[in-house]
Amino acid sequence: MSAAAASHPSDIVESIHDIQSSSKEDNPHSDGIWVFGYGSLIWKPPIHYEQKQIGYIKNYVRRFWQHSEDHRGTPEKPGRVVTLIPYDEWKTIESVVTWGVAFKIPSDDVEATRAYLDHREKNGYTVHTVDVFSLEDDETPAVRNALVYIGTTDNEAYVGPAPADKIAQQIHDSYGPSGWNAEYLLNLAEALREISPGVKDDHVFELEGLVKKIIDDNNKQ
Ligand code: SIN
Repeated sequence: MSAAAASHPSDIVESIHDIQSSSKEDNPHSDGIWVFGYGSLIWKPPIHYEQKQIGYIKNYVRRFWQHSEDHRGTPEKPGRVVTLIPYDEWKTIESVVTWGVAFKIPSDDVEATRAYLDHREKNGYTVHTVDVFSLEDDETPAVRNALVYIGTTDNEAYVGPAPADKIAQQIHDSYGPSGWNAEYLLNLAEALREISPGVKDDHVFELEGLVKKIIDDNNKQ
């Protein structure tokens, strides 16, 4: 796939009204909306969807650089979950696509699904739009203007880079209302192998290896 030909990340969309009206105008196939998932949404999708499209978005990388105080940790002991970092904010780039799954939400379920996702992603994520590409076609998007929840680098829960072993230890040690933080990481790594067997995502798979090693080491003690 040609990273050089990729366009810049889409602009932030300011309001739900703008999102829904631009989505309808720009996507002639749909009265509903598309939502692109790149984290827990891959393995725990929205409740109501009628169609899904495996694919990738260009010019973002997935990183465990977002604190989770409400799902995989607590305010006293936050866990770490994924967010997307735009290409031009991350200069030492190694890969400029992020694989995930886009879910088509039927029109009758748009309002309830938006309310559900806004609540689920309330710990610092805001809504943006992206074009989603499939393995078959690197030029023409399979889905245009899918919504995507991103914890931008200026949100209050953005915590940024740390050495991989420190991130792995934090993920291993954190629990929140949605469960063990390590389960989130291990489910994500497994789901990525399933949706795209050749997927290159060194960040996620390195953390997976480190967390599995901590678990093994603890089991030996
Ligand atoms: C997503 O899955 O698309 C957003 C991040 C998350 O909830 O893990």
